[in-house]
Amino acid sequence: ESSSLVFDASFLKHQLNLPKQFIWPDDEKPCMNVPELVVPLIDLKGFLSNDPLATMEACKLIGEACEKHGFFLVVNHGIDAKLIEHAHSYMNDFFEIPLSQKQRAQRKTGEHCGYASSFTGRFSSKLPWKETLSFQFSDEKNKNSPKIVKDYLCNTLGEDFEQFGDVYQNYCEAMSRLSLGIMELLGMSLGVGKDCFRDFFEENKSIMRLNYYPPCQKPDLTLGTGPHCDPTSLTILHQDQVGGLQVFVDNEWHSITPNFNAFVVNIGDTFMALSNGRYKSCLHRAVVNNKTTRKSLAFFLCPKGDKVVSPPSELVSDLTQRIYPDFTWPMLLEFTQKHYRADMRTLEAFT
Ligand code: SIN
Ligand code: FE2
Repeated sequence: ESSSLVFDASFLKHQLNLPKQFIWPDDEKPCMNVPELVVPLIDLKGFLSNDPLATMEACKLIGEACEKHGFFLVVNHGIDAKLIEHAHSYMNDFFEIPLSQKQRAQRKTGEHCGYASSFTGRFSSKLPWKETLSFQFSDEKNKNSPKIVKDYLCNTLGEDFEQFGDVYQNYCEAMSRLSLGIMELLGMSLGVGKDCFRDFFEENKSIMRLNYYPPCQKPDLTLGTGPHCDPTSLTILHQDQVGGLQVFVDNEWHSITPNFNAFVVNIGDTFMALSNGRYKSCLHRAVVNNKTTRKSLAFFLCPKGDKVVSPPSELVSDLTQRIYPDFTWPMLLEFTQKHYRADMRTLEAFT
């Protein structure tokens, strides 16, 4: 296979004949008109102001959704709308620069950080129709460099990207705070107490990914992100108004309608293991369309590397024995990389 072929997104978006690598097999081709998934809209205002009744109500709704499919929306989350708007608009600043400049941040094989595009240099079949920029966020205390996101972006992309770096540094810090709050609600909803998972995630080393899906002339042949489950613990996603996120529930695909005021939260494999299988990590994907670029921002909460993922004893009994072995997040990551050929579901989360 030659590696000289380079597709360019701005060229591809006008193409009527998709390169064959982007054409997904029939049983995986998308469907645009799918029913909407009914997900609870969790109002965090009461929880954030320590209202016990509102908190109980939120926990009940979260518990029901997590036992079924693991997806719910949060509103009144306390995150500045301006920050969210900036996080979206600054994506254009990056994805619309020439390819050669984006490649300053080129992600290397086996790494999780950097710029990746299906339109360049990859020749497997079933390529996703998207470009991504991913970076690591660290909430470790006593760290020499507290601005890890900003430093990474400025160092790789150049000093023009200083403001850009600030935006995503702030956004990740906000996401980390929000995810710790959601972890409290998850602990309470499981009946193990709000602080049960604090230790796992307080000093998290998480991953942030900007997803940029150009329009496609044949959106019914390809996928923006193939079907996968998130291997991480919790994902907090913000999607723009275009729409395209779909979740596989009760044997069919459902859409999650965009809501700019809301974050989409979903349980990942690691939290499914922490809850001893009670909360579900659910298959999902993203479809593209022939009119507009779609953008989404995903914050993947990961546990501290040295923490052994093992459910609290309250969730293990004679009736509900352990269903996953002990593991650490770095072990799972290594495993998914080694076995990616066998398990495309997991690979998709990292492509
Ligand atoms: C999305 O873009 O809406 C979801 C992407 C993903 O799950 O990786
Ligand atoms: Fe995902």
